[in-house]
Amino acid sequence: MTNDHKRLNKLSTEPYKGVRDFYPEDQRVQNYIFGKMREVAESFGYSEYNASVLEPAELYEVKSGEEIVNEQMYVFEDRGGRRVALRPEMTPTLARMVAARRRELSLPLRWYTIANMFRYERPQRGRLREHWQLNCDLIGPNGPAADAEIITIAWKLLMSLGLKEEHVGIRVSHRGIFADILDKVGLPAEKQAVVRNLIDRKDKISKGEFEEGMIEAAGGEDISKKLLSRLHEKEGKSELLALTPIKALYDLLSASGINNTAITYDLWLMRGFDYYTGMVFEVFDKHPDNNRALFGGGRYDNLLEIFGSEKIPAVGFGMGDVAIRNTLETYRLLPENLQMSSIQLYICVLAEQFAGHATALGQNLRDKNIKVAVDYSGRKIADQVKKANKDAVPYILFVGEEEIKIGKYRVKRMTDGQERTLAENEIKILFRPKYD
Ligand code: HAM
Repeated sequence: MTNDHKRLNKLSTEPYKGVRDFYPEDQRVQNYIFGKMREVAESFGYSEYNASVLEPAELYEVKSGEEIVNEQMYVFEDRGGRRVALRPEMTPTLARMVAARRRELSLPLRWYTIANMFRYERPQRGRLREHWQLNCDLIGPNGPAADAEIITIAWKLLMSLGLKEEHVGIRVSHRGIFADILDKVGLPAEKQAVVRNLIDRKDKISKGEFEEGMIEAAGGEDISKKLLSRLHEKEGKSELLALTPIKALYDLLSASGINNTAITYDLWLMRGFDYYTGMVFEVFDKHPDNNRALFGGGRYDNLLEIFGSEKIPAVGFGMGDVAIRNTLETYRLLPENLQMSSIQLYICVLAEQFAGHATALGQNLRDKNIKVAVDYSGRKIADQVKKANKDAVPYILFVGEEEIKIGKYRVKRMTDGQERTLAENEIKILFRPKYD
C-alpha cells in the first residue's frame, strides 16, 4: 500500500466542526420544515429569490455589525486576491440585489428565500457553523402595518408547524424608542451603536465585564449609571406600549389574530445588526431547553443607501432551521411518517432471470405515479422483505415464474400482512387517495 493510500484510509468520517450531514431521514425533516416555510410565505404573496453563498467580504463590513464581521464571518482570499465571504446572513445580499435593479423593480416587493448561512460560532444546542434560514422581507412600505405583516408571517408559520401560544412568544422593541432614551440621558449618537452591541452581548459576558464595558462605551461612570437606571426604570412600563408605533403594532397584530398576551415589549432586546432603524423582534421558544431565538428581524430603512441607492424602507426576518427543529422535537410535533422512505411499492425479484420483467413492470407503475423500487440484490426473498420492512414500505410485490405465467402478482400490505393477487392494471387502485 502506498503512503497516500494509508493516509486516505485514515480520513475521519466526521463532518467539519459545527456543520451537519443530512442523511435521508434528516433531509425528510428538513424538507418538511422547508415545505411549510414555502407554503406560508407564498400564502402572503411572497416570491422566491436566491443568490450565491459567496459574496465580497466588504458587503458585510459596512452595516452588519461588529460581532458578525470580526468574530463570525468566514473570509478567504481567492486566487485573484479578492476578499470573499461565505454569506453569514441574507439581508445585505437582498439589499444589493434590490439596489442593482432599483429602476426596473416595482415596489412593494414581497420576497422570500431559504438559503444556507455560515457563521464561525462555538457550536452548541441551537447554534451551528452552518444553518439554513428562511428570510421574508417586505420592501417599500414604511409603518406598522408592514412590520405587523412580517411578524404575522413568522407567527403563522409556527402555528402551521403545530405550535401554540403556550409554546412560543414574541419579543419586540424599537430602535427609535431606545435611541430617545439614550438621547435623554445625554449619550451622543456616535456612542449609541457600541452601547447597543454591548447590551446585545449582555447574557454572554459576566456582570463585571458588562458594567466595565458600559462605563467605557458610554464614556464615564456617571453617564453609564444614569443610563442603566433609566433603562431599568422604563423596563416593563405600560407607557412604552402607549407610544404610537407600538400601540399601532399591537392593534394590527391583534387584527391578524395574534393576542397581545403573546407579545412582550422588551427594552433590552437589541438585535446585533447595525442596519436596523425601527421595530426589532425575536420569536422564542418558552421551553427552558431551547433558549435560542427561533426568528429575528426588524425594520431597516437605510441599508440600500450603502449602494448609493435612494432610501427604501424595508422590514423582514430570518428564521433558522436548527432551533425550530429542536423545538418541534421537544414538543413532539414532527409528523411520524417522516421516518419512512418515500417508496410506496417494493418489487421483490424471486430470481435473477426475472429482473427484466420486474424492471418493465416497475417502470409501467411509475408512469402511473406510483413510487416504485425494484430489489436487484439477488438475495433470498426473506432478506428482500426484511429490507422493505426496515424502510417501512407500505406494499411489496413479488415477481417470479408463476406471476409472469398467469400475468398477476402477489401484493402484500406490510402493515397487516394482507395479500391480494392483482393484474398490473389493478395495482394502482391500492394507491388511490382515500376520501372521507
Ligand atoms: P439573525 O437573528 O442573526 O438575523 O438570524 C435569524 C435566525 O437565524 C436566528 O433567530 C436563528 O434562528 C438563526 N440562526 C442565526 N445564527 C445561527 C447559527 N449560528 N446556528 C443556527 N441558527 C442560527 C439575521 O440574520 C437577519 N439578517 C434577519 C433579517 C432578515 N432581518 C431583516 N431581514
